[in-house]
Amino acid sequence: FAPKVLDGHQLLITAGPTFEAIDPVRGITNLSSGKMGFAIAAAAKAAGAEVTLVAGPVHLPTPRGVQRINVQSARQMLEAVQSHVAHASIFIATAAVADWRPASFNDQKIKKDGSGDVPALAFVENPDILATVAQSERAQRGDLYCVGFAAESHDLLAHATAKRVRKGVPLLVGNIGPATFGQDDNALLLVDAHGHRELPRASKAALGVQLVQELARRLPALQAK
Ligand code: C5P
Repeated sequence: FAPKVLDGHQLLITAGPTFEAIDPVRGITNLSSGKMGFAIAAAAKAAGAEVTLVAGPVHLPTPRGVQRINVQSARQMLEAVQSHVAHASIFIATAAVADWRPASFNDQKIKKDGSGDVPALAFVENPDILATVAQSERAQRGDLYCVGFAAESHDLLAHATAKRVRKGVPLLVGNIGPATFGQDDNALLLVDAHGHRELPRASKAALGVQLVQELARRLPALQAK
């Protein structure tokens, strides 16, 4: 067999939204189909990597040969990531993680009492999964290559450039607008320490393959292992 570009690599990837429960029947979430993350997982597997996919609530089939862990909340996503990151050489965060969760969970459904009063919901901040992983010792040493995503409504290059530095990751991938929630195609802006490069609009499957090739080019040190 011909060698593949991610042979010997272990990829851990998050995808989809998180769902933060308010009570047994309600919660807050983000718009995200998970399609980009699932496409990258499939492309990385086809490129020879062992792939673990931590997925929020999405309606997508598991790519062949990929280990999938289903989670709901940001805290569950972080826990799943932390228990599978030890041997990973690449971490890609495509998940649209809810920034906040309700400060408390009501065991029983909050009832409408007819008075017109509305519940006052308090929120607390969720952990930043990508930033947490990027700060880990293995990532800092260069043994774990971390990639973040960004969805912005304007000034994508400026925001993606700032976000790359803030999150402490070598590569930040911006979704080039307009918002592509649920669609099968996308266009990506790759931002690293050297500059930026665009992957023009294409199917998410094709972009997954291109992104994997870009990754492989950026991983010479790991490839030698
Ligand atoms: O800060 P922002 O949410 O725009 O950053 C987006 C990037 O950070 C994505 O890669 C996303 O998966 C990741 N992220 C995360 N945990 C959070 C928030 C964002 O991993 N709580």
